Amino acid sequence: RTRYTGLIDRYRDRLPVHDDTRIISLGEGNTPLIRLNNIPRELGKDVDIYVKYEGLNPTGSFKDRGMTMAVTKAVEEGSKAIICASTGNTSAAAAAYASRAGITAFVLIPDGKIAMGKLAQAMMHGSTVIQIKGNFDDGMRLVKEVATEAPVTIVNSINPYRIQGQKTAAFEIVEELGGAPDFHCIPVGNAGNITAHWMGYSEYKDHGIVNTTPTMVGYQAAGAAPFMRGEMVDEPETVATAIRIGHPQSWDKAWNVKKESGGWFDECTDELILEAQKWLARKEGVFCEPASATSLAGAMRDIKSGKIPEGSKIVCTLTGHGLKDPDTAIAQSQGGLMTVEANLDSVKRAILDNMAE
Ligand code: F0G
Repeated sequence: RTRYTGLIDRYRDRLPVHDDTRIISLGEGNTPLIRLNNIPRELGKDVDIYVKYEGLNPTGSFKDRGMTMAVTKAVEEGSKAIICASTGNTSAAAAAYASRAGITAFVLIPDGKIAMGKLAQAMMHGSTVIQIKGNFDDGMRLVKEVATEAPVTIVNSINPYRIQGQKTAAFEIVEELGGAPDFHCIPVGNAGNITAHWMGYSEYKDHGIVNTTPTMVGYQAAGAAPFMRGEMVDEPETVATAIRIGHPQSWDKAWNVKKESGGWFDECTDELILEAQKWLARKEGVFCEPASATSLAGAMRDIKSGKIPEGSKIVCTLTGHGLKDPDTAIAQSQGGLMTVEANLDSVKRAILDNMAE
């Protein structure tokens, strides 16, 4: 077995690279597809649920799949600087891959509205972090404007190479399962990732590698759910800051995915999202960030209601790692922390009082 060197090397034939292209990689992709044991049992439903743990990519989110491609192509085309607007994960990935490539990264983030882990990453990798007094949608508009006036390559998901890289997650799932799942549930912000997954599944179908494609289900946070409103949302708000987006960039593409796959969009309240995040952490040992739990939150509800029928094989994408947002995790785990005297009696009492029945 040869050393794993990232998804471009692995899927070279299916990606727009040349033999002599210098690949900018951190070994992204090849993430675990974990079959849930306890949650299906607790739901009392006969379903197979898998989570694709994208939080285990090098910078802790699925963005690395797109960023390896976008930065590889930017460098190939002679670009010396990349730029993005971001709710945090794209900026972390852009910063890391720019460092790897030896180029400059500029990132625009909404002032005070990104999770601490993501800010730490963008700063630590040495990108220029520009906090704007506005939200992601404002940042995206500004990035598009400034890119016409400065020599910078946009690495948001409007960059088509991003989608090319991200489609490989669908390839991996098909290879692990020996075919496509029945349903693929995924959090939706800009809708780049749902578009990318559908592209991956469709490509495998077109090339005869699979006979079926999944029904694509996109879940949004209730306070930031333009696909449910049927129009752009101007003041998006949700605890899941990664998907605090009101003007999705891949609007038409996402509606097309819904239509072609026979899927649907739905929304989850912040409460439901945090509950799913906690369930996954406590019942399965898998820690994802709030936005990522939106896929499981919606899936569990649709399984309970029967909209996703028994006997189904379901994949939920967990887009980012739980460590990205320690503040939200700690805030909702109150009661789990105690302080005792540093003596045997106190520690023993703490253990006996908290023993499971
Ligand atoms: N989940 C996480 C953890 C994300 O960071 C994002 C997007 C999404 C889901 C939604 O993916 O936009 O392709 O529909 N984050 C972007 C960012 C906006 O800047 O990091 P999408």
